[in-house]
Amino acid sequence: MVQKIEEYKNEIKNFVAQKSEEVENFRIKYLGSKGLVKEVMAEMKNVAADKKREFGQLLNEFKIYTEAKYEELKAATTNGQVTTTNEIDLSLPGDPLPLGSRHPISLVRNQIVSIFQRLGFAVAEGPEIEDDWHNFTALNLPENHPARDMQDTFYISQNPDWLLRTHTSSVQVREMEKGILPLRIICPGRVYRNETISARAHCFFHQVEGLYIAENVSFADLKQTLYFFVKEMFGENFKVRFRPSYFPFTEPSAEMDISCLICGGKGCNVCKHTGWVEILGCGMVHPNLLDNCGIDSNKYTGFAFGMGIERITMLKYQIKDLRLFSENDVRFLKQFTSAM
Ligand code: DAH
Repeated sequence: MVQKIEEYKNEIKNFVAQKSEEVENFRIKYLGSKGLVKEVMAEMKNVAADKKREFGQLLNEFKIYTEAKYEELKAATTNGQVTTTNEIDLSLPGDPLPLGSRHPISLVRNQIVSIFQRLGFAVAEGPEIEDDWHNFTALNLPENHPARDMQDTFYISQNPDWLLRTHTSSVQVREMEKGILPLRIICPGRVYRNETISARAHCFFHQVEGLYIAENVSFADLKQTLYFFVKEMFGENFKVRFRPSYFPFTEPSAEMDISCLICGGKGCNVCKHTGWVEILGCGMVHPNLLDNCGIDSNKYTGFAFGMGIERITMLKYQIKDLRLFSENDVRFLKQFTSAM
């Protein structure tokens, strides 16, 4: 029987088909319900028990071999070609592999990270499910502090102490608590707020937080760092201004505006006809924060800043609707390349 299978194999190997009818004949003869493969398989019952395993393997190989030959004959004749050997035409062009592209938020996040990395900032990350202490209390926002209302929070019903972080400032606290100084970090990540989704607001978005704590850090250091950042990010053709502001975690606090890149400062919908767009909040780290995290506020000072990645991306690429970032429409997403 083994020898017979070898003979069949040889016969199959040399089988040549010019037309699809001949391929069909091959199928009927070898793979059909009364075909040779079935016939040989039926021999299995006559094989001694101790030989069954070995013979079974042989039969299986024979079946696979015959099926492969059938596929080969079929492919050759349906392509309009007739082949008598196993030759592959290596000069044929390959099938193109469609390549995706990075999400614009990822592109801009990477760019922000790399600008600050050049200034010596390291990347730090923290959990998206936070506790009250890291998201609020340690940041000088004790319970019942009115500024807690500035951010609508998603609480986790299982435990009233847990929430989805409303900002990446919580990572500041986690890093300060480690007590390794000086500290120079940026913290990119996703944040959540209980907002109605619209062109300008979303229930989740992305931020990058920055923090520098050492001896003798001044507001001048903060300004120079942020000037460098906006120049690297947006080029030279715009103006920058700092506006006094309020954040519980910084004192003094400021917001940084750039002249609107969409209308060139003349006034449009995006800048609400002011000619300026706010791009980040910043300030000198409040001494209470240092104390809360066990850092000597008489010895150390620091600055912090926080920006929304969506906001920066919208300005950079002149995108007018925040919802586009999370709708996964390929027509939108495929327009962005890392070279932009
Ligand atoms: N956490 C603020 C927000 O989500 C942003 C921010 C403002 C962060 C000022 C800071 C800062 O570190 O100093 O709106």
